[in-house]
Amino acid sequence: CDELLFSYKGILYPTTLCSPETFKALESFEARRDDVILAGYPKSGTNWLSQILTDLIAISQKKTPGSESSANAEEQEEFPYLEVGDAEKYERMSKLSSPRFMVTHLRPENLPISIFQNNAKILLLIRNPKDVATSFFHFSNRLATLPSYETWDDFFTNFMTKKMPWGCYFEYLSEWNKYAEKENIMTITYEEVKENPALSVKNIATFFGIPLTEEQLQLVLERSSFQSMKKNSDKTHGSFGNILFRKGGVSDWKNIFSEDQNEKMDKAFEEQIAGTKLGKKLKYDLYCK
Ligand code: A3P
Repeated sequence: CDELLFSYKGILYPTTLCSPETFKALESFEARRDDVILAGYPKSGTNWLSQILTDLIAISQKKTPGSESSANAEEQEEFPYLEVGDAEKYERMSKLSSPRFMVTHLRPENLPISIFQNNAKILLLIRNPKDVATSFFHFSNRLATLPSYETWDDFFTNFMTKKMPWGCYFEYLSEWNKYAEKENIMTITYEEVKENPALSVKNIATFFGIPLTEEQLQLVLERSSFQSMKKNSDKTHGSFGNILFRKGGVSDWKNIFSEDQNEKMDKAFEEQIAGTKLGKKLKYDLYCK
């Protein structure tokens, strides 16, 4: 397990995906005003929202999502996870045409300062902590490059004691909460996209200034449904797709949390997050009780 993760500025990251050299290079990354950034803790639904944003960007460029021309453009892009890859990726990204799309699991204080200085727009995706933990547990145990856990109880202890790749989720929420009022940041929850995908996609498109016809909206919704993403995952995510598109729903935590674990998480949430803007947005009482 120790070889699979390394620590950088007090936070753990997977050795196969991140490196201190890349983090160092990231500090001088030059963000642009028209970059499209998706921020979310692992297992919040980042691949789902990436699909939606990629299609919206294609539409903004007068391309049809999923068509030949837009597929080619996607292939030429850099792997969108900002902190994942070699240290030269930012040099290559500086040559990409706008709008560039990127995803990050990083906390705001570990993002390059230019993102905030240049007012790049950020869609911040959050999900209820019990489903995040449940999803993370299954994912870790299926992915060879992440530590696996003998039991759910082991995982839960690690989750609650901050020993997760990309750090503690509650700290992640607290840190992002400091930015939640900013005009160039839009917060959305996994649960609200699930509840009303059409309204969510419309709001996201409006935030990024992308006009959308009813027909385009329907296409985005069709392509981003759990069923179609799972069905196409061979093409889009290779063998990783099987691991990623697991249940795609709300409240799977009810199948795994013990009474005691529920109490522990409820208490931690109440103490650390409940009173914050992001905490209220999560509708904890509705989705976690
Ligand atoms: P579950 O493990 O609960 O099924 P991430 O992309 O950040 O790694 O998040 C993965 C989670 O998002 C998984 O949750 C996955 O099933 C879910 N997901 C992926 N695509 C989705 C979609 N189109 N609709 C709903 N949930 C989706």
